[in-house]
Amino acid sequence: MKEVNVSTPVTRAEDVRAGHREFIFPSVAPYYQDPLVLVQGKGMVVVDSEGTEFLDFFSGILTASLGHCHPEVVERIRQQAGILGHTSTLYLTENQVEAARRLADMAPGDLKSSFFTNSGTEAVETAVMLACCYTGRSEILALRHSYSGRSFLTTNITGNASWRPLPSSIAGIKHVMSPYPYRCPFRRPCDESCSEAFARDFEEAIQTTTNGSPAAFIAETIQGVAGYIVPPPGYFQKMVEIIHKYGGLFICDEVQAGFGRTGEKWFGIEHWDVEPDIMVMAKGIANGFPVGATITREEIAASWTTKSISTFGGNPLAMAATTTTLDVMVKEDTPGRSALRGKQLREGLEVLAEEYEWIGETRGMGLMQALELVEDRETKKESPEKANALLEAAKAEGLLVGMGGRKAHVIRLGPSMLITEAEVEEGLERLGRACRRVEEGR
Ligand SMILES: Cc1ncc(COP(=O)(O)O)c(C=O)c1O
Repeated sequence: MKEVNVSTPVTRAEDVRAGHREFIFPSVAPYYQDPLVLVQGKGMVVVDSEGTEFLDFFSGILTASLGHCHPEVVERIRQQAGILGHTSTLYLTENQVEAARRLADMAPGDLKSSFFTNSGTEAVETAVMLACCYTGRSEILALRHSYSGRSFLTTNITGNASWRPLPSSIAGIKHVMSPYPYRCPFRRPCDESCSEAFARDFEEAIQTTTNGSPAAFIAETIQGVAGYIVPPPGYFQKMVEIIHKYGGLFICDEVQAGFGRTGEKWFGIEHWDVEPDIMVMAKGIANGFPVGATITREEIAASWTTKSISTFGGNPLAMAATTTTLDVMVKEDTPGRSALRGKQLREGLEVLAEEYEWIGETRGMGLMQALELVEDRETKKESPEKANALLEAAKAEGLLVGMGGRKAHVIRLGPSMLITEAEVEEGLERLGRACRRVEEGR
């Protein structure tokens, strides 16, 4: 038997980085030339192992939705951990029922029946499997530029080659055009008439690349990993009309856009006034506790007739984190806050875009805002170099931001939805100084 090293954990950044290189899959690629080792977080601030504080404008990929270590969520998890930590889905808990009840209250239309898992990937897996059970079909339409997760199925659904480790290996998944206004192939500026064109292409894809009987169309309301691509007006109404015409379901991925993030509404899809057949959620749902959820109408849920368990999914701790997070979201009105602070953030970004030619587009909704960086505005050639330089420069200014885009050329911002006016202001100032560094090649 191997001797197991039980020495106290290392805290020196260099040791942690070396340990990461030695023991973690290389595909788990962290940000930055010198990856950050984080040791603490509170609200909008995270602290690294050297004691340096950063304003976190990416929230661990839009997941610390109420800020790090929100006191009410922490307290509820502590309390629950001392009472009952695990049950499996073989037993009932009030926490799970309460979490599901809250989701049913928040979700659009008749979405009512939930299945809890541990990640967005599993939530998407559950949704796709359910759509196949309900329709008795197996072909799935997805979007180019999409991201759906890291499993065998979800990497196949993902329409971004840099996240797909294998060649297409699951049959029956077809990728249609992304509704990407900045690079719209139909008309610029892209408008509602382009939604018609995207929908026509979608229908032709069903007719030409499937047997005409698809199980589902899956789409993120705002394509997150793609760099917050917001579809044009009318887009989802038209797409959903078509998938329904062919007897398939619409699976809406709200993993990034859910819970008020887009402003005014609980879920991104509500901006398009469309009711999904199945909706998936994760990330911000439990403020950092690993939870995924798939919600649907009762008759669709009932079509899954074999047994299904999740050992960890919906466990009492995860559900305590979920109910408390959702309660705080309601109390604090995260949709309203995202709208207000998102507007402030967007206005500041527009000012930067006026100053720097290499900011090709500022886009997003609510507190989901992005900058697409280009070599010049004429050719719109993507600039991953500028994006990487800005990521590093922001870090040097004490600001954490995210990357996105097919070529890693988009900067993404997604701070806590409880961010204050002063924190938005401070973040914008730091980002402004970071842009200056990039401009000056520092
Ligand atoms: C839209 C979307 N769906 C699904 C996933 C997968 O979620 P997870 O990483 O929790 O498995 C992600 C992750 O970034 C995502 O952005």
